[in-house]
Amino acid sequence: MEDLDPDLLDLTRSARTVTVLTGAGMSAESGVPTFRDPGTGWWARWSPEELATPEAWESDRELVWSWYLWRARTLRAVRPHAGHLALARRTGRVHVVTQNVDDLHERAGSEVLAHLHGSLLAFRCSVCERPWDASEELRLDLPADEHARERPPECPACGGAVRPGVVWFGEPLPPGALERAADAVAEADLVLVVGTSGLVQPAASLPLVAAGRGVPVVEVNPVDTALTPHADHTVRARAAEALPRLLARRR
Ligand code: APR
Repeated sequence: MEDLDPDLLDLTRSARTVTVLTGAGMSAESGVPTFRDPGTGWWARWSPEELATPEAWESDRELVWSWYLWRARTLRAVRPHAGHLALARRTGRVHVVTQNVDDLHERAGSEVLAHLHGSLLAFRCSVCERPWDASEELRLDLPADEHARERPPECPACGGAVRPGVVWFGEPLPPGALERAADAVAEADLVLVVGTSGLVQPAASLPLVAAGRGVPVVEVNPVDTALTPHADHTVRARAAEALPRLLARRR
């Protein structure tokens, strides 16, 4: 990774309130595949856009349920990386807003202000919306064959099918999530955008709001994205290598 601009380091190390918007690239080095990089294995034959939709749920609940269960169970094998830990340990106010549905930020010690697209570990009844405790289900090992189909459980209260607590394309964000994220951007004197292609709204607009207010925006991503033109600084590097350097305590 190239040396970082001293002015950038001064900015990232001295900012009083840092709001961080993370995407799938933040979890990539922990072993959680991103959405738009070519996948591998059984589930790579579907794109998330094909499965993460109400239509997919209506047409093949077992397939959609099996995909989310497999993803939730694989989380047990992954660990937060140095970038997650650097965020969690940074002194001063750090607001974490994520598009990710894993719990890696929390496991590193960060409090997540908003999971804009929900969580793999939150399940609820698709009819009465009652939360469903998945601990039993998630304790089970991954099925031997990745493509084992499992039936979604029935809600003990109303018999409806239990669904993942993830926001599907076309669905509204969790109540209050976007407002909390917008407040965090409004409060920030630095916005870090880490590991997102900036293609999905409304999350992708958050850094633009900061830029519009003259708040410095720093992008951490190995490649250019839709947000790059709006960033004041771009760090062409992976999150696990860049964040510890960007957020180290001032000497
Ligand atoms: N460090 C930093 N960035 C990385 C790394 C890494 N190690 N590896 C990959 N990236 C970058 C990629 O270059 C890409 O720009 O992470 C980004 C991942 O982009 P997407 O796969 O599009 O994920 P994301 O932007 O989070 O998608 C947003 O789309 O599918 C929906 O709901 C889903 O939350 C998701 C949303």
